[in-house]
Amino acid sequence: NLLDIIIDNDIDVDGFGACEGTLACSTCHLIFKPDQYDQIQEKPTDEELDMLDLAFGLSDTSRLGCQVI
Ligand code: FES
Repeated sequence: NLLDIIIDNDIDVDGFGACEGTLACSTCHLIFKPDQYDQIQEKPTDEELDMLDLAFGLSDTSRLGCQVI
């Protein structure tokens, strides 16, 4: 589950999800390992991709955590 992913990736969760999932911030930016990324069922929407463009350290396996929980 997502909590395991956060722990696995040693993500600092302070300030995580500042906009409470309304796609108005990028504090929930997560970088997944490729095998984890492939397991995410939901594909990113255009809105999520737009917000990801603003996220620090964007990678090919980035998602916004609030959209994949
Ligand atoms: Fe703000 Fe996910 S909590 S975009």
